[in-house]
Amino acid sequence: MKYVNLSEIMTAKVISICNLKGGVGKTTLVMALAEYLAGDTMYKKRVLAIDLDPQSNLTSALMSEEVWEKEFNNRGLTLPFLFKNPEYFLEDAKNDSFIAKHNISNVRNRNYFSQLHLIPSSPRLFEIQEDLPSGYYSCNLKPVELLRTIIKPLLNNYDYILIDCAPTINTVVRSAFLASNACIIPCVPNRMSIHGLELLLEHIEKFNRVYVHNLKPVGTLISRYNRTMAQTENLNSIIVNPFYPPVFETKILERAKIAEGLELSNYLTYKQKYDDSHDSMVKLAKEFIQRVGR
Ligand SMILES: Nc1ncnc2c1ncn2[C@@H]1O[C@H](COP(=O)(O)OP(=O)(O)OP(=O)(O)O)[C@@H](O)[C@H]1O
Ligand SMILES: [Mg+2]
Repeated sequence: MKYVNLSEIMTAKVISICNLKGGVGKTTLVMALAEYLAGDTMYKKRVLAIDLDPQSNLTSALMSEEVWEKEFNNRGLTLPFLFKNPEYFLEDAKNDSFIAKHNISNVRNRNYFSQLHLIPSSPRLFEIQEDLPSGYYSCNLKPVELLRTIIKPLLNNYDYILIDCAPTINTVVRSAFLASNACIIPCVPNRMSIHGLELLLEHIEKFNRVYVHNLKPVGTLISRYNRTMAQTENLNSIIVNPFYPPVFETKILERAKIAEGLELSNYLTYKQKYDDSHDSMVKLAKEFIQRVGR
């Protein structure tokens, strides 16, 4: 008789989206994956997006400034405060008032989203991440362990937790690695993004050794592809390199509409927001589920 492990089925997959190169589309892809996984009728996944980047671009793409300021930032409920006052977040873990649960995203049919939640950030993380203590004695945790600790009681509430990482290696990014089962590396097929990918893979290998962890790079996601000859040559070199995580079949093209999508605007349908990349995003969500598991 085959036993099904229910806890395994119910537990969220935690995925970091990262590359050491900036501007490769990490935030855009977290936004799109979150919107399609939660909202597309085929998938209906329960998604929590976490903005771990002090630039806070994911936060401004998914939630209004007014709600962010009044309900989260002014109340000390954005991510930097997790690293400043972890005790409060840990005590509050059951109420999870640091999670924004309403009116996330400007996709018009968001009322049909099965669940799209956000842990918002704030630029204050820039200063806080520079001055982290070696440990928090009140809760006996190191900064690198905080995100994993805060996520743990939430794992049964979601199918996917997507973490938008800053293009750097520091304790805050390491805290995402420690909290994650897998990572996806967006890459524009150009030299510097490929360097960013390579360097990140080296860091992940070292990280897994030092922290006795198994963060698995499950895919390289080609982004902002403009099909020039130079980019196509670079793309082919990425595809054939056995040391890189396997390339997603779905490639995201360079499109003005996608760039506009990071600006939270009036309600839009998926097609208005993603234009001719809508079908690619649907396919990407499907491939994501196959790659990462349900
Ligand atoms: N497929 C695309 N087509 C056109 N523009 C894009 C595309 N993807 C992202 N962009 C634009 O490129 C810029 C960088 O994208 P994004 O912020 O998603 O990258 P990032 O990797 O998160 O950057 P950072 O490292 O600064 O966090 C943004 O202005 C965004 O709107
Ligand atoms: Mg970003």
